[in-house]
Amino acid sequence: MQTVKIYYISLSGNTTSFLKRLKNYLREDYAIHLSLSNVKDWVRDGETVERIIDEPYFSFLPSYLEGGNGLDTGFQEILTTPLKELIAYGSNRDKCLGIVGSGNRNFNKQYCLTAHQYAESFGFPVIDEFELRGTEADVHRIGDKLVSLAREGGLIK
Ligand SMILES: Cc1cc2nc3c(=O)[nH]c(=O)nc-3n(C[C@H](O)[C@H](O)[C@H](O)COP(=O)(O)O)c2cc1C
Repeated sequence: MQTVKIYYISLSGNTTSFLKRLKNYLREDYAIHLSLSNVKDWVRDGETVERIIDEPYFSFLPSYLEGGNGLDTGFQEILTTPLKELIAYGSNRDKCLGIVGSGNRNFNKQYCLTAHQYAESFGFPVIDEFELRGTEADVHRIGDKLVSLAREGGLIK
């Protein structure tokens, strides 16, 4: 079975729930294995564990911001920085085929903002967004997009 690798963060479990359903969908409909790594614990002594990623991959990232309005005044990314440091390490950013953002629409203009910030600073696309645990329609739409991009990127046939 062909494998697609995902590096993500999930702190309260919504993104993990989405990815488990995505994993089932890709296995059943495409015979693709999704390999999932939650990097939230990849920290030792306050520093993110350094790891070179040598295969193309996708990222999934919920927004956790505090302060400001998130756009033109101060804001701070909290809790999700291990993923940022992993992507920033070595040439890992070049292997990322794109990012899927998640969040809560109650945050208005800050909805899914961190994924857009990563895309801009690292130079890969925002593939899509979903709210909280996502719907079945989100799972199918995003799964279909990942398969197309993985094929275009030469990751799978
Ligand atoms: C302290 C805190 C800050 C958050 N900030 C944002 C935000 O700026 N934008 C947004 O869209 N969602 C925000 N959220 C909502 C989370 O992104 C959302 O609950 C997400 O589904 C959490 O994913 P997880 O359960 O996989 O950790 C915030 C949640 C918390 C607890």
